[in-house]
Amino acid sequence: MPQTVRGVIARAKGAPVTVENIIIPDPGPGEAVVDIQTCGVCHTDLHYREGGINDEFPFLLGHEAAGIVESVGEGVTEVAVGDFVILNWRAVCGDCRACKRGRPWYCFNTHNAKQKMTLEDGTELSPALGIGAFADKTLVAAGQCTKVDPTASPAAVGLLGCGVMAGIGAAINTGNVGRGDTVAVIGCGGVGNAAILGAKLANAGTIIAIDVDPRKLEWARGLGATHTVDASETDAVEAIQALTGGFGADVVIDAVGRPETWKQAFYGRDLAGTVVLVGVPNPEMMLEIPLIDVFGRGGSLKSSWYGDCLPSRDFPMLVDLYQQGRLDLDAFISERIGIEDVEAAFSKMHKGEVLRSVVEL
Ligand SMILES: NC(=O)c1ccc[n+]([C@@H]2O[C@H](COP(=O)([O-])OP(=O)(O)OC[C@H]3O[C@@H](n4cnc5c(N)ncnc54)[C@H](O)[C@@H]3O)[C@@H](O)[C@H]2O)c1
Ligand SMILES: [Zn+2]
Ligand SMILES: [Zn+2]
Repeated sequence: MPQTVRGVIARAKGAPVTVENIIIPDPGPGEAVVDIQTCGVCHTDLHYREGGINDEFPFLLGHEAAGIVESVGEGVTEVAVGDFVILNWRAVCGDCRACKRGRPWYCFNTHNAKQKMTLEDGTELSPALGIGAFADKTLVAAGQCTKVDPTASPAAVGLLGCGVMAGIGAAINTGNVGRGDTVAVIGCGGVGNAAILGAKLANAGTIIAIDVDPRKLEWARGLGATHTVDASETDAVEAIQALTGGFGADVVIDAVGRPETWKQAFYGRDLAGTVVLVGVPNPEMMLEIPLIDVFGRGGSLKSSWYGDCLPSRDFPMLVDLYQQGRLDLDAFISERIGIEDVEAAFSKMHKGEVLRSVVEL
């Protein structure tokens, strides 16, 4: 029997989100219905609301979630009813050209539920990142459920479902940060601060946090930054150079995703260093840079989709580190809120008051 539950809907570009009844179909072949326990508010939800991702309104927002598998469809073997799972937006297909070459973290054909969740009038919903978890329950492809230690706190480990994994992975997977490396992170929201945590986990030497908001820099220090730079007062590139013997950092991570911050990453990097873009730019943003600088500075310019993570490999491993007290995911939870409070959480995010607001369902 299809179920009616509450969900947070973005109906039109820029319009405040609303809590509405949505219809969840029974899981079909390869699908699962998950009873959501917690879902973090990520900047990408706001990008959707602002029409920055695509215009397939109405969206069912929310995608950084943990919950319990309530029912599974035919042929599902990955998870069973009652499993505690983190939802992921990289259910690898095993069959595309990336998967076939042994690089499933780039999978170009990830799975989502085939059936649609709808509003009560039958309007089909676009779930954010194929998840849609600001809802009591959601329908996903079974491969989007990654089973982890059921004794872990959902609010904390659910954050691995998007922003925190994206940040940690930008450092350890995409940036390949190693022991003793110098690392700079531009933009210290949930994603950037997770990149700082990832750099610390990888035993980086100098870790420079850069933001325009002193509160974010304070949090960054708590998570492992060895130096902080307020880019509203100091030139970010000069500051990175000054803190790295005049050279620039081995790895610079742009967790904002604007042309100006990417350029800071590009010029704040040492010769042969790595730039990692993990912040998501808007479609109208353009970059102009002398090609000779691209050649002359060498190294690599990378983008990090979801921290190049492989959920089945990375989520259980990071949950174990969290359980051992070696990965402070709790530090990201600024507040726990109800389903009615997502719009207010967007405005707090916009004002820089929170790292993560976590909706409890
Ligand atoms: N690549 C991925 O897979 C992935 C996954 C999740 C989120 N994201 C993206 O990462 C970005 C960050 O997400 P978030 O949830 O951390 O957002 P957030 O709003 O919490 O953080 C953004 C931070 O950037 C800072 N900032 C803004 N302009 C700046 C500037 N000019 N210089 C320095 N700092 C500046 C803000 O003060 C804030 O601290 C977003 O674009 C989001 O869509 C990407
Ligand atoms: Zn694939
Ligand atoms: Zn996200």
